[in-house]
Amino acid sequence: MRLNGKTALITGGSSGLGAAMATRFIAEGASVVIADIDDAGGKALAAELGPKASYIHLDVTQEADWASAMDGIAALDCVINNAGITTAGNIEQITLAQFRHEFEIDVVGVFLGCKYAVAKMKANGGSIINMSSLAGIKATADLVAYNGAKAAVAIMTKSVAAHCGKSGYGIRCNSIHPGVIRTPILDKVLAQVPNPDEVYAGWVAVHPIGRIGTPEEIAAIAVYLASDESGFTTGAEFRIDGGSSI
Ligand SMILES: NC(=O)c1ccc[n+]([C@@H]2O[C@H](COP(=O)([O-])OP(=O)(O)OC[C@H]3O[C@@H](n4cnc5c(N)ncnc54)[C@H](O)[C@@H]3O)[C@@H](O)[C@H]2O)c1
Repeated sequence: MRLNGKTALITGGSSGLGAAMATRFIAEGASVVIADIDDAGGKALAAELGPKASYIHLDVTQEADWASAMDGIAALDCVINNAGITTAGNIEQITLAQFRHEFEIDVVGVFLGCKYAVAKMKANGGSIINMSSLAGIKATADLVAYNGAKAAVAIMTKSVAAHCGKSGYGIRCNSIHPGVIRTPILDKVLAQVPNPDEVYAGWVAVHPIGRIGTPEEIAAIAVYLASDESGFTTGAEFRIDGGSSI
């Protein structure tokens, strides 16, 4: 019960890593607000997780959604800016519209999440956890938009951490950088490429540990960052990537 008495909002909580974090947070005693645009998935998960879980429709790119979400929640101890998409393609393939769409969700969404989290938590302190990626540290030819977006999340995290520290808010802000993790986002990427088997084998090959990761292995670091155990940790990058950034 490492999160007993805490309330966390998790964007993109209906699926994949967000769903795994919601599940583990409930097991650790937290109350969880699942925030997503996948209403059916989010409501089903909240029902499965029981009375300490709830669902709200929140499109991370819409400021009005953030404002009404925060109005409806009494107090928050943790905001996890996890919602994201992955657009595959190199600099010659990606269109401006695709690039803007990637940044709208993965960067503007995190910016708004941090902004509203700081406003909500600055009186009592808390933890902001931003989901970046190994792709925010290491570039690959076919992820130009995603590389740019996830690198932006990493440095924005440090700026928020610096501001909150300087302001004495008691808010910590850290980023998580998963390697390749088995979630539905992978299937969406594989559906965009002509050679899915080769791409999958390539993902496994870049992890010295010899496999891709599980959502539970990412939920574990999120528990640490949301708990008081990480009280001296801010502005840090957590690489949970099977050694792929070595
Ligand atoms: N799976 C991986 O290998 C991996 C690796 C590194 C980083 N990440 C990052 O982890 C995060 C979660 O990814 P996942 O693998 O669980 O993917 P996923 O596709 O399973 O889940 C993403 C969730 O975000 C939601 N979402 C999309 N757009 C949204 C919006 N505008 N507003 C609110 N919710 C929205 C989706 O409905 C979905 O529930 C993403 O930011 C992703 O970039 C994933």
